[in-house]
Amino acid sequence: MGIFKLFSGFLILLCIIFLTETHQTTAKDDKIIHIYQLQKGNFSIKVTNYGATLLSLLVPDKNGKLEDIVLGYQNIEEYKNDTTYFGAIVGRVANRIGGARFCLEGKCYKLFANDGNNTLHGGKVGFSDVIWSVKNYQKDSHITFTYNSFDGEEGFPGNVIVEVTYQIIDTNKLRIKMVAKALNKPTPINLISHTYWNLAGHANKYGILFHRLQLNAQNYTPVDSNLIPNGQIKSINGTYYDFQTSQMIGSRIQKVPGGYDINYVLVDSSKGKHLIKAAVVEEKKSGRMMELWTNQPGIQLYTSNKISRIKGKDGAVYRKYAGLCLETQGFPDSVNHPNFPSQIVNPGQIYHHIMVYRFTANY
Ligand SMILES: *[C@@H]1O[C@H](CO)[C@@H](O)[C@H](O)[C@H]1NC(C)=O
Ligand SMILES: *[C@@H]1O[C@H](CO)[C@@H](O)[C@H](O)[C@H]1NC(C)=O
Ligand SMILES: *[C@@H]1O[C@H](CO)[C@@H](O)[C@H](O)[C@H]1NC(C)=O
Ligand SMILES: *[C@@H]1O[C@H](CO)[C@@H](O)[C@H](O)[C@H]1NC(C)=O
Repeated sequence: MGIFKLFSGFLILLCIIFLTETHQTTAKDDKIIHIYQLQKGNFSIKVTNYGATLLSLLVPDKNGKLEDIVLGYQNIEEYKNDTTYFGAIVGRVANRIGGARFCLEGKCYKLFANDGNNTLHGGKVGFSDVIWSVKNYQKDSHITFTYNSFDGEEGFPGNVIVEVTYQIIDTNKLRIKMVAKALNKPTPINLISHTYWNLAGHANKYGILFHRLQLNAQNYTPVDSNLIPNGQIKSINGTYYDFQTSQMIGSRIQKVPGGYDINYVLVDSSKGKHLIKAAVVEEKKSGRMMELWTNQPGIQLYTSNKISRIKGKDGAVYRKYAGLCLETQGFPDSVNHPNFPSQIVNPGQIYHHIMVYRFTANY
């Protein structure tokens, strides 16, 4: 009996060793989730290769006090379970695709519908929910994440190589460069950074209601009740969407059903030659100001309308209007609106999206 017990124990041990070994050698598990920091002086960020996500950004306020001004969770496990996309890089096609389908060069593609009948932020498992590889990491400068998206992933055609670089410049600028290459089939690509900002500190109890916002936009793309564009491009003049001059967000948000969740058409006087200043955000108490520059045609303004009592990092509890998302992008549902700027990237072509944030604190 004793020998039998010993023998079966030995067998179980062998099985465990065998299972662990085979488990570890599968390709997907080669990738381990890590947290990386970039720092220059008092300016620092943390990112992870899970979803190529921005986890934190610390920058001084007008008195030199450092605070983390992006919303997020305490643990990576909570990011895996997340439905808010805190800080993540979203793709293959961020924002919504109506009817979870599109047709391209005579072929129609069915996508995963994860938002009613529509596709949101890449589908069930978008780029925000995969583990990226780390290509370059230099603590005082930059980190590059890469991901190989396969033909048919979430229904999208063709293989795509994606690269995202976070770079800190001086002690007050963050540059995010998103590059993607279609390898063998034409495919739509629209990547975004889904960071939630609160310039008074991520746990600020007033949310973003006392933030002032200015957007370099005169038009927006109106949507139906499921937030799918109806194809129009309309003037914001005389509406509560008008941020051509700096406005306190909370002064009008109650007039917009549900809060802001809309794409603006950025005014590009340089015709794509230079980055344009898309947005300026100011928060008086901290004195912090953030400029956002980009090369993209649109920007989604989202005011955390759907957030309700989310347990965040450092004991914070995030409520409605806790953070401000400024997602530079191609227009939502572009694949189904020929009058919107095309998101189609042909084999050999390169998708190239730049965002530069500049922080100051002295007003
Ligand atoms: C960081 O902030 C502290 C506190 O305001 C300040 O004394 C220090 O000079 C700053 N360091 C750098 C490198 O800017
Ligand atoms: C994951 O999300 C579900 C539903 O929102 C929640 O009940 C659960 O506690 C979450 N798990 C973790 C580890 O956060
Ligand atoms: C999805 O489409 C079906 C069929 O057209 C419709 O009955 C249903 O109401 C739609 N669901 C939503 C959430 O819009
Ligand atoms: C909207 O307002 C801006 C700034 O006042 C002006 O330049 C633009 O022509 C107006 N657009 C329309 C369609 O009235």
